[in-house]
Amino acid sequence: MGDRVRTVARRQLPLRPAGADTVAALLDWYDRERRDLPWRSKRGRRSDPYKVWLSEIMLQQTTVKAVIPYYASFLRRWPTVEALAAAALDDVLAAWAGLGYYSRARNLHKCAQAVVAEHGGQFPRTEAGLSSLPGIGPYTAAAIAAIAFGEPATPVDGNIERVVARLFAVRHPLPGAKREIKRLAATLTPQRRAGDFAQAMMDLGAAVCTPKRPSCLVCPLQQDCHAHALGIEAQLPIKLVKADRPVRYGIAFLVLSEDGRVLLRKRPEAGLLGGMLEVPSTEWGDDWLPVDQALMAQPVRADWWSVPGVVSHTFTHFRLEIMVMRAIVPADASLTFWASPEHCRWVPRRDLGSAALPSVMRKVIAHALKEQ
Ligand code: ADE
Ligand code: SF4
Repeated sequence: MGDRVRTVARRQLPLRPAGADTVAALLDWYDRERRDLPWRSKRGRRSDPYKVWLSEIMLQQTTVKAVIPYYASFLRRWPTVEALAAAALDDVLAAWAGLGYYSRARNLHKCAQAVVAEHGGQFPRTEAGLSSLPGIGPYTAAAIAAIAFGEPATPVDGNIERVVARLFAVRHPLPGAKREIKRLAATLTPQRRAGDFAQAMMDLGAAVCTPKRPSCLVCPLQQDCHAHALGIEAQLPIKLVKADRPVRYGIAFLVLSEDGRVLLRKRPEAGLLGGMLEVPSTEWGDDWLPVDQALMAQPVRADWWSVPGVVSHTFTHFRLEIMVMRAIVPADASLTFWASPEHCRWVPRRDLGSAALPSVMRKVIAHALKEQ
């Protein structure tokens, strides 16, 4: 007889699918191990919907660690939805600078205004009501409904997706498997403590059921986990390989005045980095423009010095490579603005820290000022 095919299974598959016992085990674990995060209420208490909403918008595409200081400063400055609605958009964008995905900040402001103007300052309680507000998509609507209002809604973020794919040994690749994973997650969502359940899944995904080497030995769901029983947890979820990001190229012009101010330009409200400040630059295209063409985009006529090196920044859909030109101009120069002077402004260097500058532009400025 030839070799028998070896099974990698660690043990018999569970006879029943994950269900009520799984949820109870997870909630027990959460009661012992939950992360103490500033937007979370004390155990057994309902959370303030404003805090839940603010944190969930910030946490879209951003890590908990990066969000914590921004969350604290927003709450200090705008403690209520009414205060945020009354703020100037430019102040909100400046406070958001560095968090990325700036449409979130514009929608945050719009949403606060809609809650005040159309809902008497109270967030809607249901997924459908929440979804009708700016910046609140299906995930965020479900998260707020569950966490702030205890509705049995099922938010599915990347962490929850991974835990569910493993619990049920979903072998279809993402992103096609999203609907199936969402349906399976919904079968687990309890009528009581839906918000704790969602956050428990998030915490489990962040601390135990991690992408590369999940800690199944200490996992409260180990007995119920099909991927673990099959020994395939580290392979799940399967993801279709994404195409490489395209690269775009631009040349930025940093103008410094002799009295220590930097010329910045406000970007149009719509589109990437909308409403944020930037160092004026050429269009971002498939290659660097030749110098004579690039100079058509110089914001002022000046003697330019090419700063050695390149600034590289990765956005969701492309990578940007920026070369930087620098010029120093007299403080009282009557400057010949070439491009939209109405969108340009002088910002003193000491005020750059609190300006509405996205990370990529902070890198450009640091690079340009590195060698004096
Ligand atoms: N990521 C998104 N929302 C979260 C939350 N409420 N707790 C922890 N991580 C999260
Ligand atoms: Fe994740 Fe392992 Fe727990 Fe399964 S047993 S949920 S794979 S940590």
